[in-house]
This record gives sequence, C-alpha cells and structure tokens, in this order.
Amino acid sequence: MIAIRFISANGIATQAVEGAEGESLLALAQAHGQPLEGTCEGSLACSTCHVIVAADDFARLPPASEEEEDMLDLAAGATRTSRLACQIMLTPALDGLTVRIPSEARDMRGR
Ligand code: FES
Repeated sequence: MIAIRFISANGIATQAVEGAEGESLLALAQAHGQPLEGTCEGSLACSTCHVIVAADDFARLPPASEEEEDMLDLAAGATRTSRLACQIMLTPALDGLTVRIPSEARDMRGR
C-alpha cells in the first residue's frame, strides 16, 4: 500500500491514509471524505480536484500534461506545486506523499 497524507485547507487537520497502486489520488481522497468535488470525474474538464503538493514531494510526481497545466491555470488559489488529483495515479514512488486541500475550492462554472 502507498501512504498518503492529506492536510486540511486551514493546515490544522491531517489525515494519513493508504491507497493501492493504480488508484487515483482523487478517488483515494474522496474515499476518505476529503472535500474534493472532482466534478468531471477525471476528464480534465474542471479544476475541482485541485490539490497543493508539498514542495519537498513535488519532484516525485510525473510532470503534468499540457491539458492539466491549462486547467490548473484556471484553478482558484493555484500555486507552483498545484496538481489535479484525478491525474495522479498512485505508484510506490509516491509513498509518503503529502498534499494540501486548497482553501479556495471553486469550480470554473459561474466565472
Ligand atoms: Fe475534473 Fe480532475 S476531476 S479535472
């Protein structure tokens, strides 16, 4: 199993969970009640699965696709270590990854 740590938007609550190889980070987050909507269910058509990866862990992730980068440009509160959780598939290389839930989880709709 692959250990992942979620940090709440206010930085106070942390939740340590474990996922299976091949599972998406979004599915894992949702299975544990983390507040990520994932409105488009992984089809890169929203940014409601936006997470902020711990700076120390960011380099362990495979690079984002151009489509993901484009969508991240629209994500509220995106940072240099932001990613879309639906695009991150768990691998043993990601064991111990820490990600934070952004404080502004806002859909593109209504903009
Ligand atoms: Fe919509 Fe990830 S769930 S882009």
